[in-house]
Amino acid sequence: MHIVRRRGWEIPESRVTPEAAVIGRRTLLGTSLALSVANMAVAQTAEVGPGGAGPRNPKYLAGRDITPETAATTYNNYYEFSEGKNLWRSAQQLKLRPWTVVIDGMVAKPQTLDIDTLLKQVKLEERIYRHRCVERWAMTVPWTGFPMTELLRVAGPQPSAKYIVFESLADKKMMPGVRSPLYPWPYIEGVAIDEAANDVAFLSTGMFGKPLTPQNGGPLRVTLPWKYGFKSAKALVRISFTDKRPVSLWEQINPDEYGFWANVNPGVAHPRWSQADETLIGDERTVKTVIYNGYGDFVAGLYDGRKSEKLFT
Ligand code: MTE
Repeated sequence: MHIVRRRGWEIPESRVTPEAAVIGRRTLLGTSLALSVANMAVAQTAEVGPGGAGPRNPKYLAGRDITPETAATTYNNYYEFSEGKNLWRSAQQLKLRPWTVVIDGMVAKPQTLDIDTLLKQVKLEERIYRHRCVERWAMTVPWTGFPMTELLRVAGPQPSAKYIVFESLADKKMMPGVRSPLYPWPYIEGVAIDEAANDVAFLSTGMFGKPLTPQNGGPLRVTLPWKYGFKSAKALVRISFTDKRPVSLWEQINPDEYGFWANVNPGVAHPRWSQADETLIGDERTVKTVIYNGYGDFVAGLYDGRKSEKLFT
């Protein structure tokens, strides 16, 4: 069945910065002393906690100010809780411990790991990444977590595995949105194995030097900053390796609007939103969107042999 549903994802007019007020900002990734100093100030407030602490990896600088923590933790997309943005209170119902993650499918040894056991097997670090939603809002977040290459090491995919499927928790008791029959729960998303092996692909366990909040996808979420935010599934309970390309929750509902690759590109509009620019949550300026969200140097090569695919939807 082809259900077309409005997502309630639009930013209200009142949140959109008037064009005249838009300040020309550098949109390419790069270093800036002022930004680095601002970033460091945030790091020094880092709290030690499972999933929350790790040294900053200086290779990844967003070239933008970090979004205020209160904005990044109170303006969310999480349909298991609500179709609106103001769901952080409701998300506190989600219990983040005990928590297990199943790793299965085409792997050397399928396993069910307690999240804290998994955390002991990986080296946590902090990366400041841009985060761009297809609804054209954006944030800059200091995530703590580990590169997806670490997941590949822990899982040991078989050579025939081509894709990874990420499955989010779907618990009717704790998540009111999951009681809605309108969505084909659970939320699933996926990446190709070579995308996962890329340096930028990340799994987050914390943000702002603290363990990840329930509303932002705690205790474990995907973080793929060169793709639209819907690719980054929250509250992971299963990670499966397969040779079949997965069809995500959004693609099942509306394949004309949501594809598998979903790489950020200002030149390819979504049917409901131009992707030419984006509004920065927390300060409300609008800036130009850049291809691969600024991560082209790291990821563009992944798509050289895939030009016939719909890479940007
Ligand atoms: N993961 C699950 N399980 N459920 C969701 O509704 N929304 C996605 C993604 N991951 C979503 C999800 C979308 S559309 C975006 S833009 C980001 O989460 C938002 O992440 P944030 O709330 O931490 O900013």
